[in-house]
Amino acid sequence: MISWWRRAGVRVRSTVAATALMGVLLLAGSGLGLVLLRSALLAVDAESGGVQARLVRLSVTAEALGGRPDAALRAAVGADADRGSHVQVLAQDGSVVVASAALAGRGALTSLRPATSELVRETVDLPQLGRPGPWVVSVAGASVEGRRFWVVAAESTADAQRVLGVAAAALGVGSAVVVASVALLTWTFVGRSLRPVEAIRSTVQGISSRGLDGRVPVPAGEDEVARLAVTMNGMLARLEAAQRAQRRFVADASHELRSPVATLSAAAQVWSRAGGVDRGFTELVGSESARLEALVGDLLLLARADEGRLAAGPVGEVDLDEVVEVEAARVRAVSGLPVAVSTVPVRVLGDAAALARVVRNLVDNAVRHAGSAVELAVGPEVVDGASWAVVTVADDGAGIPVADRERVLGRFVRLDDSRQRGAGGPGGPGGTGLGLAIVAEVVAAHAGRVVVGERAGGGASVRVLLPVGPAEGPAAGPGQPPSAASR
Ligand SMILES: Nc1ncnc2c1ncn2[C@@H]1O[C@H](COP(=O)(O)OP(=O)(O)OP(=O)(O)O)[C@@H](O)[C@H]1O
Ligand SMILES: [Mg+2]
Repeated sequence: MISWWRRAGVRVRSTVAATALMGVLLLAGSGLGLVLLRSALLAVDAESGGVQARLVRLSVTAEALGGRPDAALRAAVGADADRGSHVQVLAQDGSVVVASAALAGRGALTSLRPATSELVRETVDLPQLGRPGPWVVSVAGASVEGRRFWVVAAESTADAQRVLGVAAAALGVGSAVVVASVALLTWTFVGRSLRPVEAIRSTVQGISSRGLDGRVPVPAGEDEVARLAVTMNGMLARLEAAQRAQRRFVADASHELRSPVATLSAAAQVWSRAGGVDRGFTELVGSESARLEALVGDLLLLARADEGRLAAGPVGEVDLDEVVEVEAARVRAVSGLPVAVSTVPVRVLGDAAALARVVRNLVDNAVRHAGSAVELAVGPEVVDGASWAVVTVADDGAGIPVADRERVLGRFVRLDDSRQRGAGGPGGPGGTGLGLAIVAEVVAAHAGRVVVGERAGGGASVRVLLPVGPAEGPAAGPGQPPSAASR
């Protein structure tokens, strides 16, 4: 119950609380009102019965009965015509001396016998009188010439009950209408108040880490929600500035590192040619500085991607089959591994150098992990109803576990650190875990998708899908497709 209440949301909770409170208040108020009304109505009935009894007593006394009712008493009691009053005059022995028309032939209605000049009342059911509900019976004591009499007047409360019934029904209907209106008003009002909050929530959800330039809508007015929106926009602005500064720093640092690293690399080559210095040492410096150079280049490329400036190169039509052929030739020359290539000519719009980099990174991975063979394929394909140019790079190595297929596209992700640590170029054991991250960035900038899977017969297979025909080229800026969708 409590967890349901917590989960129900502000709108439901406010509506239920307001409606319940209103219902309880109305119930209590109506109950109290009906009780008061009932006692007032019964008091009126009792009073009219009492008045009646006193009047008849006056008549009895005035006529000095002497045991024989005369015409005046009969008229006072209403014995000849039913005037709606139910009156009896009882003698000392309890016999009915005279009674109003409706009570003709009936015995005493009550056993109350008050003293002379006293008036008492009781409320009893008198079903024999034909009207439902309790009756108020008033009894007045009288004494004429030493003989005692009692005047009994019975008043039906049926009219009072009917009025009470009508009042209760009116209160019930009125309360239901009020409660329903309160529920509707609360639901509408709270819903309307929460609408800007929902707008803020959905905007924030749409702001990705990639583009912190979005701002939440600020509702008119200066209420809490408007202040929340303003505060949130301030926070987003600070986050964006911090992110921009951090990206700038990585980009600047990578850029600045490039020239000393290149100098180091060149110096190592000169040393190695000149001899003189220990050969092992110069080779080590050479390979490490080459590695450093590649790493700095990768970092710079990723920093550019983060800033939405990936497309440094010119955008044009690229023959993907040619790119794949060139890579196959390079790998055959470098690694000596058998490379099977199957190409169907296909052309995409994009940055030729960046796309060549994609294929090279995939092929480097395949060569590094292959058991004995690497397979490359390129051609047009229809996937999910759309036309794509698809490059597939597969090898017969250990493959990539299903659980890691999304993760390997992240930065600095290496699945087997111990095996791959240490020096080594493409085909060697090295690797910084940036290759596939670069693939993902470049492909995303070309509005494409990377699918990491497995090769039929074992091993890894990575497929790159790029839109064919006149698609957007590598995006630079806001037009960039969302990375998560395109990876
Ligand atoms: N063809 C493959 N077969 C098996 N595992 C692979 C394959 N390709 C990638 N991997 C795994 O995914 C990880 C990430 O690959 P990625 O290309 O991003 O980095 P890397 O090859 O280790 O380093 P870099 O490419 O930066 O030199 C690799 O470390 C490897 O564990
Ligand atoms: Mg790699």
